Amino acid sequence: ELKGFAFDLDGVIADTARFHGQAWHQLADKVGTEWTPELADSLKGVSRMDSLELILKAGGHENDYSHDEKVALATEKNDNYIKLVETLTPADILPGMKAFLDELKDHGYHIVLASASKNAPKVLKYLQITDYFEGIVDPAKLTHGKPDPEIYSEAAKLMDLPADQVAGLEDAQAGIESINRAGETSIGFGASLKDADVQFDETSEVSLAAIKEQMA
Ligand code: G6P
Ligand code: MG
Repeated sequence: ELKGFAFDLDGVIADTARFHGQAWHQLADKVGTEWTPELADSLKGVSRMDSLELILKAGGHENDYSHDEKVALATEKNDNYIKLVETLTPADILPGMKAFLDELKDHGYHIVLASASKNAPKVLKYLQITDYFEGIVDPAKLTHGKPDPEIYSEAAKLMDLPADQVAGLEDAQAGIESINRAGETSIGFGASLKDADVQFDETSEVSLAAIKEQMA
């Protein structure tokens, strides 16, 4: 029986996956890597430096920059991303997610955040939903990013729950894989997430009843 929910942030709670995409697109133009929908998709859920490496590799530029130059490029992307984040308001919470958080809270479920983003606390603050979360997994303390199970295993630990009582919510393949490998129940948003235990096309469809119906 599920007792806790671990939320991804970008693309699940708010449409910030779009902001990450915009900022990475700018960076790809700068380094001369062609921006494609496939490249954009492959970055979802992936850490900042790993995303930069994927963009450089896609254009054959992985050896064109020193470590310090790569750090500078990642910082530039992050500065552009933060400018977009600062425009967020509670109205930017994706359809149905506020109601779902309220439903979980009202029924006494544990709620934590399992985002790879170091900007997650800031995003929650602008969306004004920080108080729903009893904990936030600190991505700076992780050895491996998604699709490694570490982040979702840490989320279960934060809630003091065994994996089989935890569900994770994700919009990206790397995240679904991370949840599945952690032995938890994966809930995916997006038609392409075939490996998810529970799948919704839109965030507006999520509710405890809708999840239980697919798990039955
Ligand atoms: C999330 C997003 C990724 C982003 C990563 C790191 O997983 O889906 O697109 O690259 O977090 O975010 P950060 O804000 O730390 O650069
Ligand atoms: Mg995401």
